[in-house]
Amino acid sequence: MSSPAPQKKHLVIVDDEPVIVQILHAVFEDGPYRVTTCANGKSAMGVMRTEGVDLLLTDKNLPDINGLELLKLAKEVNEFAEVIIVTGYASLDTALTALELDAFDYVLKPLNNVFEIKKKVQRASEKQDIRLENRRLVNDLERKNCELASALSEARKLQAELIQSEKLAGIGTLAAGIAHEISSPLFGIMGLAEAIVEEDETRLCHDYASEIVEYSRTIRDIVVELSSYSRASSAEYLTTVELSKTVDDAIRLVERSSELGGVEIRSDVPPAVYLNARTNEVQQVFVNLVKNAVEATAAHHPGEGGRVTVTAGSDDDAVWIRVVDNGPGIPADKQGLVFDPFYTTKAPGKGTGLGLNIVYRIVTKYRGTIQVESIEGAGTAFSMSFPANT
Ligand SMILES: Nc1ncnc2c1ncn2[C@@H]1O[C@H](COP(=O)(O)OP(=O)(O)OP(=O)(O)O)[C@@H](O)[C@H]1O
Ligand SMILES: [Mg+2]
Repeated sequence: MSSPAPQKKHLVIVDDEPVIVQILHAVFEDGPYRVTTCANGKSAMGVMRTEGVDLLLTDKNLPDINGLELLKLAKEVNEFAEVIIVTGYASLDTALTALELDAFDYVLKPLNNVFEIKKKVQRASEKQDIRLENRRLVNDLERKNCELASALSEARKLQAELIQSEKLAGIGTLAAGIAHEISSPLFGIMGLAEAIVEEDETRLCHDYASEIVEYSRTIRDIVVELSSYSRASSAEYLTTVELSKTVDDAIRLVERSSELGGVEIRSDVPPAVYLNARTNEVQQVFVNLVKNAVEATAAHHPGEGGRVTVTAGSDDDAVWIRVVDNGPGIPADKQGLVFDPFYTTKAPGKGTGLGLNIVYRIVTKYRGTIQVESIEGAGTAFSMSFPANT
């Protein structure tokens, strides 16, 4: 399908001298314009108002209306109209007024050289084309700008939504992490509270109650610490943690809060091995590692034979800790995944897969490293190392 031929430009010629109108009509009639001739200003106004105008070639001194008035009207009707004024007076004034009113050019009477007029009209038409093209480009640019602005605001909106959903996901992980970490001391508290209900001996009740207070503090501290996880640990909260004591506490908490299934848990940590850290966080590391080891090993050695051992030591450069079990081991291709959040091999509802991720975050927070070594069917060892001045 061919596109429709471009509309011809409307050239309006106005002169009260019939001969001149005739000549001009003859000059332009076979050209690229649709030509209308008018013998006076009034009819020219009517034509321009009803049919529009692209190019106006008008005598300045018409009997009824001044050619400069027609110029103004042409510009009102079409802001891109180009006007050439024909004048009998070769005065500078006339020329200047015409140009001031934004005429494209002027032509002097008598019209000796009609081809010069033809050229001037052609140049006026070319100037008009350039202005129209410019306007088209500007419009195009404005449209593209608008599109860009709306794409940008769409992108901003998406980004804000993404940040929001990441925040929500972060809050979800945080909440799951807190729930995970407080569940052991919470089970410990429940066990002790039940024991108090059954216990008649006041002294034992006091002991249980003070342990309940201890575990409640642990829960409070875990909530506070985990909620402010992103903040750098401030030195004022750090204490010198004696590992042997913290390991004992952690083992007791695991014993209180989980089914041991006959697994024997041993601590082989000599006294006077210290870490400069928050006690709670060190305890969380041991609780998670020992609990994982117990859970894996109990399933592997039903009844008895399962063993979990915690060892630690230090020299001038480093403090090292190991949690070793004789459980089922971790397949080589899965060892790289165990520290990922939500990686779990436990049945749905049994594990969240957050334990080792929390361990990893605590260890690295204190500039430590943690590694897993495991042989399938033989057991697993988690080894940590901290710089000596930690
Ligand atoms: N000592 C271990 N022996 C064998 N597999 C282990 C051991 N420790 C961890 N794993 C494996 O690593 C996975 C991730 O452990 P992690 O503590 O992060 O989560 P989880 O124990 O599955 O869940 P949750 O901690 O919420 O109970 C476990 O599901 C298990 O497959
Ligand atoms: Mg776990």
